[in-house]
Amino acid sequence: MAFKPASNLLNIVPKVVKKENRYCEKHGDFLSEFRSEAMGWSGCAECLKDSYYEIAKLYKGDVDAVGIQGDMNLKIKQSGIPERFSSKNFNGYVIDENNEKQRVIFDFCTSYALNFEKAKRTGQSFMLLGGVGTGKTHLAVVIAIEVMKRRHSVVFTSASKLIRSIINTYSKGSDQRESEAIAIYTDCDLLIIDEVGVQRGTHYEKDMIFDVINERYENLRPTIVLSNLNLAEIRKYLGERVLDRFRENEGKAFLLDWDSYRGRVDA
Ligand SMILES: Nc1ncnc2c1ncn2[C@@H]1O[C@H](COP(=O)(O)OP(=O)(O)OP(=O)(O)O)[C@@H](O)[C@H]1O
Ligand SMILES: [Mg+2]
Ligand SMILES: [Zn+2]
Repeated sequence: MAFKPASNLLNIVPKVVKKENRYCEKHGDFLSEFRSEAMGWSGCAECLKDSYYEIAKLYKGDVDAVGIQGDMNLKIKQSGIPERFSSKNFNGYVIDENNEKQRVIFDFCTSYALNFEKAKRTGQSFMLLGGVGTGKTHLAVVIAIEVMKRRHSVVFTSASKLIRSIINTYSKGSDQRESEAIAIYTDCDLLIIDEVGVQRGTHYEKDMIFDVINERYENLRPTIVLSNLNLAEIRKYLGERVLDRFRENEGKAFLLDWDSYRGRVDA
């Protein structure tokens, strides 16, 4: 595999390398873009938007897809998707005109979910970094829902919840062993760790996160990390070893550097 210097762990969206006119049965001509091996050729943006709305509907319970929905409600509950993201407040994702980066990240997240089988084979992991309210958790929830719908297991956690649940096993009377707590995070098909870097984090806590990410990495299991830190800060926080894990298998980091959506939506 070609060596990728650290700066290539992108804190931007990769540039378009090639373009090609393609045809969508439903929406007609569109310009397909190639940015990186990991992202591949972009699909029809309208189709991705349609898929996204199907996923969002599923979360909101609008779809009366008997069986799938009943099953999904339970899965959503068990996955750990934050309550704050109650499906009632789950708005359609708005892509601001002129925010090309946002569109590309949205397309990437949607196709990652729709092609999760590929990520599962390669262990493709990535990070969404950026300021508060820029939609990191929102995008990750969409991915989680679609991946679960495709019958893969997903665990959605915050870094502090992950650490707490492991530490809790040390207390007397805990009926769970440390290894069992860790296995919840290492064994699922997709792990999403939200709010990484919120606390200062002791060495011990960072090691725990490293161990989980590393174990998954060695077994080619994809992990998505969400954080308010920028690339330099997250490198400092989690260390180069963790960042290395995201460099392989075309893992990458996206920086969401636009204004908060809180207040813009009823959130
Ligand atoms: N592009 C968007 N279109 C519509 N709603 C959005 C968009 N981006 C974010 N939101 C909404 O704005 C609110 C904040 O988004 P979210 O919680 O995902 O941000 P975040 O990046 O995870 O922030 P934090 O770093 O504070 O956790 C949510 O209600 C979310 O649904
Ligand atoms: Mg968030
Ligand atoms: Zn289309």
